[in-house]
This record gives sequence, structure tokens and C-alpha cells, in this order.
Amino acid sequence: MKLTERSVSRALLVSSLVVATTGAALVLATSAAAATTLGASAAQTGRYFGTAVSANKLSDSTYVGILNREFNMVTPENEMKIDATEPNQNQFSYGNADRIVSHAKSQGMRVRGHTLAWHSQQPGWMQNMSGSALRSAMLNHVTQVATHYKGQLYAWDVVNEAFADGSSGGRRDSNLQRTGNDWIEAAFRAARAADPDTKLCYNDYNTDDWSHAKTQAVYSMVRDFKSRGVPIDCVGFQSHFNSQSPVPSNYQTTLSSFAALGVDVQITELDIEGSGSTQASNYQRVVAACMAVARCNGITVWGIRDSDSWRSSGTPLLFDGSGNKKAAYTSALAALNSGGTTTTTTTTTTTTTTTTTTTTPPNPGGGCSASVSLNQWNEGFVATVKVTAGSSAISGWSVGIALPSGATVTNAWNAQRSGNTGSTTWTNVSFNGQVPAGQSIEFGFQATGSGSGITPTCSAS
Ligand code: XIL
Repeated sequence: MKLTERSVSRALLVSSLVVATTGAALVLATSAAAATTLGASAAQTGRYFGTAVSANKLSDSTYVGILNREFNMVTPENEMKIDATEPNQNQFSYGNADRIVSHAKSQGMRVRGHTLAWHSQQPGWMQNMSGSALRSAMLNHVTQVATHYKGQLYAWDVVNEAFADGSSGGRRDSNLQRTGNDWIEAAFRAARAADPDTKLCYNDYNTDDWSHAKTQAVYSMVRDFKSRGVPIDCVGFQSHFNSQSPVPSNYQTTLSSFAALGVDVQITELDIEGSGSTQASNYQRVVAACMAVARCNGITVWGIRDSDSWRSSGTPLLFDGSGNKKAAYTSALAALNSGGTTTTTTTTTTTTTTTTTTTTPPNPGGGCSASVSLNQWNEGFVATVKVTAGSSAISGWSVGIALPSGATVTNAWNAQRSGNTGSTTWTNVSFNGQVPAGQSIEFGFQATGSGSGITPTCSAS
């Protein structure tokens, strides 16, 4: 059967449990024709498919042709790093990054910001700083850059690569780490204060194997942040794979275990060295792992053609140097089209977490529909709300949610809100108002109290 003729089941859904007393399972399925581009295919299950983009390639017509056709999320490859955005202390430079953001917007793509605080690609002035002066300079950088892009980004990699490789399970030594162990949470709090509606992510590599000390160390930090209310919404898994660092057999367990902490997980810099069917099957495994985890809400590859890659000799991407689709492209697309499940698998050992996910099928008529996925723990919950356009594209949306008494919203992302108790209204932000027919976007919020039974209603504009 040809791929384009296959029907896919989508919007499956289930609830999961950790506490055995909860748990009515609801399974809904609808059919849709398999999509023929990475972005459209990912969007069928409410996910995105992105790529790293270099500003200096936006004049390459082959590159831009593939970018515009295939992808619906963009990460500037170098243009938002500290050396690019603050080359001299307190002199900010956004030209190349802004060019990427405006190209993305013009194509209806969203943008992941990368990255606000990192030991690498620091400008010279920052490399030479230490102690409280560096801490202040770092926080100023986070505040200034996050403020410049306020409301324009889907997510920020707030902190990148802060943990050590190997078996130590500790932090990476760096000038930032030497300012004090709380530098990571300080960066997240500054980012939240500057841009309250963008998802804030921790991003790292070699965190894909659940059994590795580095993975466990990052997991402990995220669990600690969630328990203390440090604002973190997502964890990025760079996922740079090759024969020394292969796709681990427990990759899906890693994704689902982090997701069970109440964060989104995203594959942020995927590339897999190799060629032919071996590379294709590795891409299939990675994409399928994400598709099997409800809160794995997007995949970004680290470049378009092999020749665009930061490690081009390993030919790690989905298009060859001439822009032709590789076997890896075909297998990645097939995995996106066949894995349309949003089953939530909770593998945490935390005994107080219950995860309930409910969904509704796309609205068959015009307008929009909304569904909510809840992650409830003793004291509060995270609600992820999916807005799906009906049979026509919409250019804006508004979602009403009545919160049970005792529930108070503490933070939110990817929507503007009015009210934080009782009757609340959520409207689109600049980058997610336009939703093509049948496609979805997500926003979310965290609240104290119970979210049991909340039912969103959607109206389109
Ligand atoms: C890489 C870029 O792709 C290169 O162009 C640059 O020379 C170095 O950085 N982890 C990250 C990315 O978080 O920012 C890195 O990107 C790749 C590894």
C-alpha cells in the first residue's frame, strides 16, 4: 500500500495511573490521510517537526524551498547564542536572529530560542568574568534577550549543557557553575519574569540513555525544580547519535519518565550519523519513541541537508547535499504518519502523581474544538490544552475554562489569560492564532488545587 493512501489512526488517547484507584481509559480514534511533509505529518498528532536554521543560508533557494515545504518549527543554529546576541557587554545585536524569526513568522512556523545561558559560545568579555559580576551579567543577558523576544517564541532553551559527562552525576565545571549551584534556577526565574508565556526548557546531550548517570542527574534536578516551583516547562534531548553514542534501547523510557514529572519533552537537535537502511531505521526508532509519549510534542533535526550539518562528514541528516530526500526521510515520515497516538505512559515511581488525558475528535465543521490533558499531583496540576481548527483554517481562538474552586493558575505558556480562578479565558498569542484546517496547537498552564473535570470550550475568530 502506498504511504499516501494509508490511513492513520490519530488522537488515540488513554489515561494512565500510578495510583491504581484512578484510571478510566478513554480511547477515541479518527482517520486521516497520511500527510506528505514532515511538519504536516507531525501536526496530525499535535506535534511539530523543526530544523536548525542558519541566517546566512536564507538566500539559498534550495535550502529555503525545503525549509518552507517540510518544517513548522525553527531553531536558530547560532544566532541566539550569547556571543551573537551580546558581543560586547550590554550591547545587544539581534539582526541575524530577527531575520530567522521573521522568516519563520512569514511562513507560519514557530521558533525555539537557543540558548540563554551556556558555558560555550560565550563572548570574550563573559569568558573573562567570574563570581557575582558574572552572575549579574548572565542574569542581565537572560532578562534582556528574553524581553526582546517576549511573546514571540514557542520555547526557550534557557540553560544548555550544564551537567558533566561520565559517571559523576554532577554538574559540568564552568565559569557559570562556579558562580554557585543555584545559577540554573536563577536563570529560569529570570527568563520567566521576562517572558511569562513561553515554555522554558533545560537542554542537554548524552541524556538519552535512562541508565546513564548524567540522565539521572538531570532528572533529579527537574524533579527538584518541579517540587520547589522553579519555573521549568520542558526538557530538550539534543540526541546527537553516532556509533559511539547510539540510539539507546531505553530511549522511550527516558522520554516518558521525564514527561511524568510534569514537563514536556522535545527532541531538540536530532542527527544520526550513518547512511542507508541502518540510518533510516535509527530515525524510525527515534521518531516512534517520541510519538509513543504524549508529552513528547516535537522533534527538531539539526540542519536540513547533510552539507548543512555541523558534522557533515557523518551525513547525519534527512536530505543529501543536493536536497534529495534520503531513506532516513522516508522512514521518519512513515513513523510520524503511523504513530499517531497520544498514549501517556507514566513510568515514574512517584506515588502521588496521576496522569489523566482526555481528548475530543477534531471539530468536523468550522470553528475550533479544545481538549485538555491533565497531570495532577497532590497539590496542583499542569493542564495542556489542545486547540484544533475545524474544516476551515482559523486566524485566532479563545478558550473558556471554568476552574474548580480552590484551583488557582500560577503560570501559563503560549496563551494570554484573563482570570486565574473560577471562570478563565485564554486567547492566542501572536504566533499560534493561525491554525490550518484540521491542525492543532497547544497551550498550557500550571495551577494549585485540583483540575478534575475541567472542560474547555473553544471559539474561533
Ligand atoms: C553547533 C552549531 O551547529 C555549529 O554551527 C557551531 O559551530 C557550534 O554549535 N549542542 C548545541 C548546539 O546545543 O548549539 C551546537 O550547535 C551543537 C551541540
